[in-house]
Amino acid sequence: MDELQKSARRALVTGTTGYIGSNLAKRLVADGWDVHVIVRPTAKLDALDPIRPSITLHEHDGSTRNMIQLVSDARPDVVFHLASLFLAQHRPEDVEALIASNLLFSTQLAEAMAANQVKYLINTSTSWQHYEDAEYNPVNLYAATKQAFEDILAYYIDSCGLRVMTLALFDTYGPNDSRPKLIPLLWKTTLDQEPFAMSPGEQMIDLVHIDDVIDAFIIGAAQLPEQGQGHMRYGISSGMPLRLKDLVVAFEQATGFKLPIVWGGRAYRSREVMLPWSNYTMLPRWQPRVPFEIGILKTWPAQHAHREPLHIPPQ
Ligand SMILES: NC(=O)c1ccc[n+]([C@@H]2O[C@H](COP(=O)([O-])OP(=O)(O)OC[C@H]3O[C@@H](n4cnc5c(N)ncnc54)[C@H](OP(=O)(O)O)[C@@H]3O)[C@@H](O)[C@H]2O)c1
Repeated sequence: MDELQKSARRALVTGTTGYIGSNLAKRLVADGWDVHVIVRPTAKLDALDPIRPSITLHEHDGSTRNMIQLVSDARPDVVFHLASLFLAQHRPEDVEALIASNLLFSTQLAEAMAANQVKYLINTSTSWQHYEDAEYNPVNLYAATKQAFEDILAYYIDSCGLRVMTLALFDTYGPNDSRPKLIPLLWKTTLDQEPFAMSPGEQMIDLVHIDDVIDAFIIGAAQLPEQGQGHMRYGISSGMPLRLKDLVVAFEQATGFKLPIVWGGRAYRSREVMLPWSNYTMLPRWQPRVPFEIGILKTWPAQHAHREPLHIPPQ
């Protein structure tokens, strides 16, 4: 019996002031879920504006006691955990914040779920835990903290019966993305038309459109009751990584803009991911549906509203 499909209309979501979390919260509201979100007192809530009247906000004061109380107040059927601090390269002064967001907050959440007998968790990890396709080799300290939380979850799974599905994400993109990521940077370059220094561009990039990423969370949640005790782990990949140089060509072809990229104008970063993780398990019943040439047109920024794409690919 699919008990979650029938009764799980109440979700508790973390990271909803961020890009993926806000899109997930909007989708859950649109799908009729009763959506509760955990935010920090300092958070900017703009990303939640369109759904503010439809969701319940819980402010976390940083303590475990408060986390237990707010999970008790929310009484979720399923928790979607997306809150995280991402830093491609950390400095010594970043260590505390990385641990606070990716380990302390996350462990408080698992503890609060156990204390309230909430058993279904969708956790979010990263393909960067698998540098050079290793079973575990973190690209950076951020990826190491994501793995550390998965290791902590093993305790809650075994001792408290938590049922966890971890979705390991690759690169993501979509409309209204203010994160300092590749596609927003390419659009910025179309506006500035200033020479933009990039690495030699031979690395393979695995970009998944936000609509597909959100589908994975929804489809994954529906499968939680079917999975046995333990921890299922899936890679949410496009299945079609593109060489960065080819990706820029595809961007130019889809949009009609020529980008003044200076290839090799900067060095690869230390531990650059040249080949994305390939040894992942696909989430059952999920596959990406948005091809890059369509997805990229959905990211068309307001600043270019007056200009039409040169070539609109068939849907
Ligand atoms: N390329 C990708 O997009 C990618 C790839 C792999 C994995 N992921 C994973 O996907 C998830 C979502 O990523 P994203 O790109 O949407 O992130 P994002 O836009 O950077 O947003 C991060 C969110 O986490 C919240 N957060 C951070 N520390 C927190 C804390 N200590 N307490 C409460 N909330 C905290 C932030 O809240 P504030 O507003 O308060 O800062 C924000 O809502 C993350 O788990 C990330 O690791 C993303």
